Amino acid sequence: MPERGRFVVFEGGEGAGKSTQVRMLADRLAESGYDVLTTREPGGTPTAEAIRELLLAPAAEPMSDRCEALLFAAARADHVAKVIEPALDSGRIVVCDRFVDSSLAYQGSARGLAVAEVAEVSRWATAGLVPDLTVLLDIPPARGLARAVDGNRMESQSAAFHDQVRAGLLALASAEPHRYLVVAADSTREEIGAAVWEVIRERLPEPHHEGLRR
Ligand code: TYD
Repeated sequence: MPERGRFVVFEGGEGAGKSTQVRMLADRLAESGYDVLTTREPGGTPTAEAIRELLLAPAAEPMSDRCEALLFAAARADHVAKVIEPALDSGRIVVCDRFVDSSLAYQGSARGLAVAEVAEVSRWATAGLVPDLTVLLDIPPARGLARAVDGNRMESQSAAFHDQVRAGLLALASAEPHRYLVVAADSTREEIGAAVWEVIRERLPEPHHEGLRR
């Protein structure tokens, strides 16, 4: 049996530069000999991508908060069961753009659902999967939104909503500092990438370790 892989998640508000950092980290890991899978939420399976369409399309009719929370959790359940867990079981390093903390911050802190309840729904959906490391790219919402371009339903929320997302994410990181790396996302992409790489290298076993090799 290969050693179980490692699960690394990037979180942050709109326009924090997560997708760039996911790509940079995945390239570095692959160059160093690790077998890497990159993925993102909501999405990652055909069912989860269909749910993503429902969630992020500019809505004709606003969705209720609990419906939204359940749809994010449903997409996540499929993604974990069909993509993330099998990859971890076969020893791969999984790098994921957003995970449970996005639900806690957006549906919990910002929409106002009880964070503990959203956490319980997500815990059930993921059968308890927790990232080994979460990189939180922290950026003042006004700056991030100025860079965010896809115009999804969340981006068009109020400034207060995005402030609550940011505060929610920072609170999660400060509650479990050993599981988080918080990086100010206003440095250059190279500086952020270097800070992430330094921590990841410390935490990963050598790539020649049984199972984590390509
Ligand atoms: P996406 O276009 O992937 O944005 P980003 O590049 O910022 O990740 O859209 C994902 C949106 O969905 C984003 O606004 C955050 C939101 N979201 C939630 O509200 N809850 C969740 O559980 C997840 C995974 C995302």
